[in-house]
Parts: sequence; structure tokens; C-alpha cells
Amino acid sequence: MVDIAENGRTWLLSGPSSSYALHLTDADELLHLHWGPRIALADAEALAGSPLPGYWPFESPLDGREEYPVEGGPRFVRPALSVRTDERRGTEWRFTAYETEGDELRLRFADDGLAITLHYRMRGDVVERWVSLDNGGPARVELLRADAATWTLPEREGWRLSQLHGRWAAESRLTTAPLTYGEKVIGSRRGHTGHQHLPWVALDTDATEERGEVYGCALGWSGSWRIAVAQLPDARVQVTGGAGHDDSGLLLLEPGASYTSPVFAGLWSDGGFGGASRTWHAYQRAHVVPDADRDRPVLFNSWEATFFDISEEQQAALARRAAGIGVELFVVDDGWFGARTSDRAGLGDWTPNPDRFPHGLKPLADQVHGLGMQFGIWVEPEMVNPDSDLYRAHPDWVQYQPGRTRTELRNQLVLNLAREDVQEYLWERLDTLLSGAPIDYVKWDFNRCFTDAGWPGEPYPQRLWVDHVRALYALLDRLRAAHPGVAFESCSGGGGRIDLGVLSRTDQVWTSDNTDPLDRLAIQHGFTQIHPARVMAAWVTDSPNTQLNGRASSLRFRFVSAMAGVLGVGGDLTEWTEEELAEARRWVELYKEIRPVVQQGDLYRLRPPSGGLSAVQYVRGDETVVLACLQAQSHGEPVPAVRLRGLDPTASYECRETGEVHRGAVLLHHGLRTGLRGDLDATVIHLRRI
Ligand code: DGJ
Repeated sequence: MVDIAENGRTWLLSGPSSSYALHLTDADELLHLHWGPRIALADAEALAGSPLPGYWPFESPLDGREEYPVEGGPRFVRPALSVRTDERRGTEWRFTAYETEGDELRLRFADDGLAITLHYRMRGDVVERWVSLDNGGPARVELLRADAATWTLPEREGWRLSQLHGRWAAESRLTTAPLTYGEKVIGSRRGHTGHQHLPWVALDTDATEERGEVYGCALGWSGSWRIAVAQLPDARVQVTGGAGHDDSGLLLLEPGASYTSPVFAGLWSDGGFGGASRTWHAYQRAHVVPDADRDRPVLFNSWEATFFDISEEQQAALARRAAGIGVELFVVDDGWFGARTSDRAGLGDWTPNPDRFPHGLKPLADQVHGLGMQFGIWVEPEMVNPDSDLYRAHPDWVQYQPGRTRTELRNQLVLNLAREDVQEYLWERLDTLLSGAPIDYVKWDFNRCFTDAGWPGEPYPQRLWVDHVRALYALLDRLRAAHPGVAFESCSGGGGRIDLGVLSRTDQVWTSDNTDPLDRLAIQHGFTQIHPARVMAAWVTDSPNTQLNGRASSLRFRFVSAMAGVLGVGGDLTEWTEEELAEARRWVELYKEIRPVVQQGDLYRLRPPSGGLSAVQYVRGDETVVLACLQAQSHGEPVPAVRLRGLDPTASYECRETGEVHRGAVLLHHGLRTGLRGDLDATVIHLRRI
């Protein structure tokens, strides 16, 4: 909902429990007024009436108060917009108009031929912001920086910044620290979202998991990006973010060309970090993730079971075992195509390997379907191995700088997806693949960063950074439209490409290559700060853990840890005993029973994973599920009871497993004993209101 003051210069956007307001001064300065609890238009107008502070030569009255600080004039903060032409640098805009369309508010500005539009849209309590630029003038405009939005927080003391940092196999780890004066900059210079930071920040002063004000901002972009959080003088904080990783240039706007930034979404919550994440989850399920109301199936993935050593018969044997334990989707990972018998060859040649799949993928897909499962495959379309037919035919299709080394990482190079011939090749190959065999699922991987990202002959700033992501999105959109029954997974060596942009085109993401069930608890704790369980893939793999750390854990612990998201199995089932398979079947059955609650419910992080007992709870209608994990019990101390959330204190709840009846008020205020003991113990508690 958008309310507009009579003079057409103050705007108020409101969601169910929050509001966002801005104001345009007579000098066309666009000022931020309010972001927080719901207010009335009259409140926004009252705020608009407060004069800007006096102007001193060493401070700017605009700094920390503007909605979208441009470069130029009396401003010393990091500009959201920085442009230059052959003649000059910076922006001096005039307001031209505002308009609303549905729930979107557009504010239009112009600086000579450059039209700048700021877009706002409220989705529940999430504010979506983005900017579009149109070069209607006769000169080229160099876009050095065009952030999607700048967020302004209210004056408070003692801001803290939370972020999700990591690396390969250790993504999404939550860290919180006081914000000090100056700037904290996070981002990716790698061409993809990156394992190092999820494009999300949260700011609070004294919030806890379930109480207090939290501001959150998340960027929907799957290429290089940057978010800068600035603690300015006078207790003012601004967060600015967008595509591109530094100021050397984003894009060249030729006359007639335009640029639309990704969406930078933001929310305010007074329900602590838990409340903020539930708002993020509801937003993504309602507005971002495709078909989010459809539960994701239990999948089997062959990677850790067979790595590159695969064949039709061996995959069929795994499929039979997977079907036996109740798996619903069987995914053949890397190694089925071209000369791909190791990571040294084959990427780019998207036809089944004739020795391994002599009659193509269809016979295996048919067998998998015959077993009652869906069939999926792994691809990594944006890459090529130098040892491939594709590279031998088109060595100029990769990103490279003339006369420089073509850096290989994992023996592969990055295709220049900004090229139309590359886009067409990939479309043709993937469309043929999806048309040639009954494929229901595509795991789309991306296993190296950009390094020598050049495009000989193209002027600077080169568009390949931005256009790579646009081409990826367009390819996914086109494939989804042509093959509406096919679901997609975003993977990048685990969690290297997880953001709101890719999530608007994929059905789930591969959270991490780290499948150790204990490490996963911390990764999942961070991941769910922003993204819902409905997209968080988690596999049960072999014990001891083969991929990472050799840690041994029970099947029970591995399943309970993986049941916190979209359950998958990734172990070598041909090596599992009959007892293990029977136990796995029981866990998969239980998961299917609780799946709607886990994937669609409200998530409460009851206790963080910090050495002892951790627990997450999901609430949906009359049902609630608790997944509790005990890392280690020390000194024989009693394991604490877990206090539940989101229940009706006046109701009673029956445990599905034991038939025990618990009173809501008792569960909320005194908690539930989990019965866990020792090391790496875990349990599932499923309660239904009676
Ligand atoms: C990285 C992924 O994260 C793994 O799951 C697997 O698909 C490999 N790539 C295959 O090369």
C-alpha cells in the first residue's frame, strides 16, 4: 500500500506491521524519513517538516539522510550512483515525476539525457528497491557504480552488524560484531555470489533471537556484488549495495541503452532475529521461489557415492536401493557426459558419454521412472575444459585477456556468456538434452570463479560481468518456460551461488559440499537467518564422512540433521547393510510425514548449535516439529529441556511417536525433555494439537 501526501512530495509504503517513508524537498533532495513500525501519513508529514541540520563546511546536511546519494555536490558518503561522460563526472538530478502501478512506486529524476528511476515495492513487510537508468542523451555514459538502493537506519547508539561469512565447505556462518565508525564492506569479486559472504546483513542494537528490533537487507544478484555498511558521525548508519565489485566500472551505457539493477530487499522486524527470518522466509515462499507451495521431494544424489566413476548399470543399482528406502528423485551427478572421467576433460560437451551410457540417458531415466522416482542430472553449462570438443572448436568463447595466461581452476575456463553465440549454443544443448530424455530435475553447478574476465575488442567497462548473470538468468527462464515440469537446483561447489536472484529461478539450492551432520548444524543456523528450509538441500552421506573430515556419526544423527531442510541421501547405498537400509527407510518415511511442517512452516531456532544441545522447531497450523541434536554431554550434566515457541498456551499437544499429551503452556514456559544423552545424539519430536 502506498500513501501519498497532497503535495505529491511525501510517500509512505506500508506492510502489515511496518512502514517506510520518504520525502522530496523543494530542492529535489530525496530524504529518508522512516523505516520501522507502521505509521500514518500524518506522521510521515510531521517528519518531513523537520528541517535539515545547519550546513557546516566540514559536514554535509544530506549525508546519512538521503535515499539514494549520488556522486557530486555537498556529499561525502559513498555514492550509490557514480557516472561519468567524456565531459564530466557526477550527477545533479531534477525530479520529473512520480507514478504508482499496483503496489510499485516509481520516482523519476533526470540529469540531462540520463533518466534515473527509483523503484519501491512492499511485499508483506519486505521493501523491495531497485533502480533503472536510461541513457536518452547523445553521449555514452560510463556507469561506475549504480547501487540498487541505499538503506538508512534510525538514529540509535550501539549498532551491531551480523553477516554470514564462509568459504568452500564452510558457508553461511553467522557472526555478529559492534559496528564502529567508518565502513564495513562485504561482497564478491569472483563473478558469482561466492562462498565467502551471503549477500545479506542484519543490524540491531540489542535484539535477541525472539525480541528486539532487527533490520535486514539482502541483495538478489548472482554475480560480483558489494554491500557497504557505514557508521557515519551522529549515530547515523547507511547500507548501500548493488551489482559490481569496485568503482572501476560497471557498464557502458551507449545512447539509447538502459540498466536495471538487481533488487535489494530490506525488512524491519521487532521480533528479534527469529522474527526477521520468519518474515524473510514468508517473503521468499510467497514472492521469490517458484512453486514454493509445492513440497520438494526426497532426492538421492550420486556424487559422494560414485564421484566420477559412473556407469549406467552402477547408477541403476544405486537407483534400486534409493527407491527401496523411499527416495523420490534420483540425480546422476558429474561424469555422465563427454569425456568426463575426471575433472580434467569434457565440460562443454553435453552429450552422454558413449562408453558409460551407450544408448544415452533415456534407458536409465526410464528405469528410474519405472522405480517410481523422478530423474535428474548434473550440468555445469557456464564452463569448459580445455580438453573438450567445444574448446577445440571455439577457443575464443571463453573469458580471457589477449596475450595473458588463461588461468585454469579445477582445470576449467569460464565461457563468456555475454556472447550471443555462446548463449545460443547452451540453449540448444540444454534444450536438446531436456527434450531427448525424460529429465525432471537439473542440478546446475558453477565450480570456479572469474579470473581473467576479459572480452577482447569490447570497450570498457566491459559488460561481460553483468551480462554473464543476465544471460544465466535468461537461459534459466527460457529453459523453465520450455520445460515447465523440470525443477532446477542452484549449486556452486556447494553454496557459492545462493541469493534472492538465483532463488527466483531455481527450486532449491545446494547448501554446502560439507555433508558432515555436525558442521551442517552451524551452516544451517546461518542459512536460515535469511533463506527458508524449503530451499535448503541437505544430504545424509556415509559415515565416517568421506568428503571432509572422517567424522563418524550415527544414521540417526545424520538424518535428523538433514531433515531440517529438503532431505536428500548421498551415501553409497550399495555399501549400506540391510539394517541400515531399513533404518533409512524409516527415517525417510518420518520425513515425509513431517515434510509439510518443515518445508512450509514457521521456523524457530530454539537453541543455536554451540557445543551442547541445539534445536529447531517448525510450526504449521496444528502441527509442530522439533529437531534436537546433542553434540556432547559434559560432566554427566542433565541435558536442558527445550522451551518451544509459537504454540497456543491453552491447547494440548499429542506426541505422534509416544502418544504423550503435553500442555501448551508447559511446553512454552517449562519446555520439553528430549531424552538425548552422550555424544552426537538426536531426535525428532512431532506434536499435533488435540
Ligand atoms: C561441486 C558440487 O557441489 C558437488 O555436489 C558435485 O556436484 C561436484 N561439484 C561435481 O563436480
